[in-house]
Amino acid sequence: MLIEIPELLNPAQLQKIHELLEGAKFVDGKLTAGMAAERVKHNEELEQKPELLQRLYRILMASLGHNARFRSFALPYRVADFIFARYQPGMRYGDHVDDPIMGGGKFRTDVSMTVFLNEPDSYEGGELVIRTPFGDQKVKLAAGSAVVYPSRSVHHVAEVTRGERLVALTWMQSFVRDPGQRELLFELDQAREHLLRTAPDEEHTKAVDRSYANLLRMWADL
Ligand code: NI
Repeated sequence: MLIEIPELLNPAQLQKIHELLEGAKFVDGKLTAGMAAERVKHNEELEQKPELLQRLYRILMASLGHNARFRSFALPYRVADFIFARYQPGMRYGDHVDDPIMGGGKFRTDVSMTVFLNEPDSYEGGELVIRTPFGDQKVKLAAGSAVVYPSRSVHHVAEVTRGERLVALTWMQSFVRDPGQRELLFELDQAREHLLRTAPDEEHTKAVDRSYANLLRMWADL
């Protein structure tokens, strides 16, 4: 299952990110690719300038921390530093699964995230295509919106034929490693939130709330 996070970044955050990236230098994305990815990866990534990256991370991490839909779906435990990737005409990233372990061997990647930074009508192609048992899902979202999906999914980025695709990417270890269990918890959490808003004093609301807490306790892996 994949979900969209509409307006993860507000217009002011998006504008600040664009200001920070203006004139920044991008380098060949193969420099950070593993052996298998290197053969299919054709993009560019923001060069490692610690001060610039820290300012960008602060904006993105604050928006993640405040987003209830993201937290409910991903149940993030450890989140990797964002990477900023750029695709110009002719660039693409062929089918792959993301690296299983990141952060110098410190954590497992369960959930992948792409934050779209350019408006979809400003470039052609560049869809994120996620292969699922029910067919390919093509994702190309408004600037500031994000998609979150299981890191084990095979996916690719279609070739950009006009304009520029600019995205921020991150990966995270979830408190719950199994995508099916995360999906169930996400749905139950939505029902729980609704009941807590509309019928906070009902016994069945309390039962759903307790069940959510205890299922998360049963499945959480720390
Ligand atoms: Ni990927």
